[in-house]
Amino acid sequence: MRSDEYPIVRHILDGGSPKAHVFHLDVLLNGTSRGHALLGPTMYMDHGRAISPLGAIRCIADVNRTATFLRGVHEAIRDVLARTRRRPLQVLDAGCGPYAALTLPLLSQFDEGQIHLDCVDMHPSSCEQVVRTARAFRQECVHVICGDVMRHPEVRRRLYDVIVTETLYSALLQEPQAAITASLAPLVRPDGAWVPASVHVRAYLADRSSRENVETEHVGQIAALSPASAQELVEQGIDRTFAIPRSVQHDERERKLMLGTSIDVYGAHMLREEGALLTSAAPFGRMPVAPRPETVHIRYRPGGEVDEVKIEWGSSDDVSESSRRRISSSPP
Ligand SMILES: C[S@@+](CC[C@H](N)C(=O)[O-])C[C@H]1O[C@@H](n2cnc3c(N)ncnc32)[C@H](O)[C@@H]1O
Repeated sequence: MRSDEYPIVRHILDGGSPKAHVFHLDVLLNGTSRGHALLGPTMYMDHGRAISPLGAIRCIADVNRTATFLRGVHEAIRDVLARTRRRPLQVLDAGCGPYAALTLPLLSQFDEGQIHLDCVDMHPSSCEQVVRTARAFRQECVHVICGDVMRHPEVRRRLYDVIVTETLYSALLQEPQAAITASLAPLVRPDGAWVPASVHVRAYLADRSSRENVETEHVGQIAALSPASAQELVEQGIDRTFAIPRSVQHDERERKLMLGTSIDVYGAHMLREEGALLTSAAPFGRMPVAPRPETVHIRYRPGGEVDEVKIEWGSSDDVSESSRRRISSSPP
């Protein structure tokens, strides 16, 4: 990256309100395509969608997401640089999109020879564009690999110091974050770093009349995705029964079931529910009013489509002995 562009990244990393700086970075990245058409439809795969190049570009404008990931990835690389003498550090951006927006701009913050960056994406036009962007920023340490990051032999033949993957959608639906985490977790060195460190999904009830999804009761934690939990999550899917808090029996307000997402990006860099478009909660149906249910069963496949999510309201009598053992109570 040219030295006159350096302040944009520095300003984002320095904290404070990142809005103007992320927009500036977005414009700068878009400028590197110089009329090159970013073609390609969303690809539907077994473990989730590879969203279209234009869809991936739109993610950059989710200001808090982009700023928090850039800060987290920067800190992760610095931490690993500090604890190992290996150089260059091998960094993988798995599902990098057309501009590798969460990794490539950070190269300006490190010395030559400190980092080698592998960028991988399913979309040929995104891969071609990353080559252009790296050239425009005069970064020669970027290697672009086109294909499925979970299967590509060039990816699988080495270990990485830092792996970054933002192939994520709210509630771990639609995109392959869980499958990619499970597949690549064995490739990160024991003293390396994984970004995002973990993704959490929980269920809660909200007043159905409120547009702001104001929480009335917490229901329970649905999933915690990390490199350690990913394989089990992918193999077993999400299949949880929760007891409905007793407090709902005391009023007849209409409630909806919400699934909320939060992300521990790295260190203290976190995206809380509603802190970014990416972590906006989504409604998954209305809770019956009479009779009030005593349990809710939530079942879906990470990376699956939203309309595949199964929500079943029940009384504790409906619950089989095996799932009764799995019923989780919400905290008081
Ligand atoms: C939500 S976009 C995010 C792009 C970029 N990481 C960012 O955060 O700005 C996800 C990207 O991952 C890519 N992707 C999804 N599944 C993939 C796979 N199995 N192998 C390679 N790329 C994949 C998509 O093509 C898309 O470009």
